[in-house]
Amino acid sequence: MEWVYIHRHACRALDCKLAEDVYSKHKTLLLKEGTVVTAAHIQLLFQHGISRIAVGGQASVLEQLEQKWEGRYSRFVQAYRQQFEEIKRVFAAAADGTDIDLTACSDQFEQLAEEALASGSMLVVLQQLQGHSDYTYRHSIHVGMLSALIARLADFPHDLVMEIGKAGLYHDIGKLQIAKEIIQKPAKLTPEEFEKMKQHPQLGVALLKKNGEVPRMIHDGVLDHHERVDGSGYPRGLQGEDLSAAGLIVAVADVFDAVSSDRSYQKKSSPFRALRIVTEDIFSGKLSSRFGLPFTAQMLQLYTGADVYLSDGRLGTIIQLFPDDLEHPLVLVGQDAFNLRGSGLAILDVADRRSWEK
Ligand SMILES: [Fe+2]
Repeated sequence: MEWVYIHRHACRALDCKLAEDVYSKHKTLLLKEGTVVTAAHIQLLFQHGISRIAVGGQASVLEQLEQKWEGRYSRFVQAYRQQFEEIKRVFAAAADGTDIDLTACSDQFEQLAEEALASGSMLVVLQQLQGHSDYTYRHSIHVGMLSALIARLADFPHDLVMEIGKAGLYHDIGKLQIAKEIIQKPAKLTPEEFEKMKQHPQLGVALLKKNGEVPRMIHDGVLDHHERVDGSGYPRGLQGEDLSAAGLIVAVADVFDAVSSDRSYQKKSSPFRALRIVTEDIFSGKLSSRFGLPFTAQMLQLYTGADVYLSDGRLGTIIQLFPDDLEHPLVLVGQDAFNLRGSGLAILDVADRRSWEK
């Protein structure tokens, strides 16, 4: 159990489970022990003048999804839950070297991707999930959905959108064949370890091929997701025209999701910082502008008008995001509009908003 002073460290309490009941000054029960703390709860606690709460461990990804979205997006949560189980099963087989049947996992992905593409809000939800314990599964599922979105924005036909999505889903499957000490190392890899790590795209393709024919887009996406437009990537150091479309797409999705997710060695950044990093990588010639710019534009559009919780507990609405300073948008709080830049405030989380449902 840990005490968190929410005026200073509200972020630390987010998505943790309450270790004990929380009462108001008038002895009314506000939140029950075991509740997964959301930004809305923190706002409630601020309103009641409560400055610290006792939290236990972090809720699992599925518990967070269920808490936030079960009632409203039940089909999506159900599809996500099943996808989670499927990818776990596939990765366990990949790690053991046993035969993998991808059929159920790939079929499930199509259902999940349809749900995600039908409403942009799902992609906003994904970046709200916290905790690194299930990172491998979660990151794979999210890169899959984001890759499908980017492919759709680029007007690929539906069957290729799904294939590119599956390339994102399986992009890191080769990592299962690399020593855990390297994959989970909470520090910078040595040059030797990094050389081993760089083999995971080829290992992934070989693993998929062992289990049947691999469609072109899946093959390219898995093999090329660490290639970079300027030739600085791996494993082959391809450049420009030689890069595959699927590889370029999965690369954008991978960078965005990795930055905006908790990992064992790094706390997640806000989606706004992730978009900033993707934009910088596009302009420095690493990520594809053809696929990256429509994606960042789409995400900016999704977040403009979003309600956000600020680090002082107030609820605001993003009225303008500045491409040159994405982490400090113009925010409306009550009747006042102000720029977060220089305000000392940060965006704690994106609030649920029904108006996102379209
Ligand atoms: Fe990778």
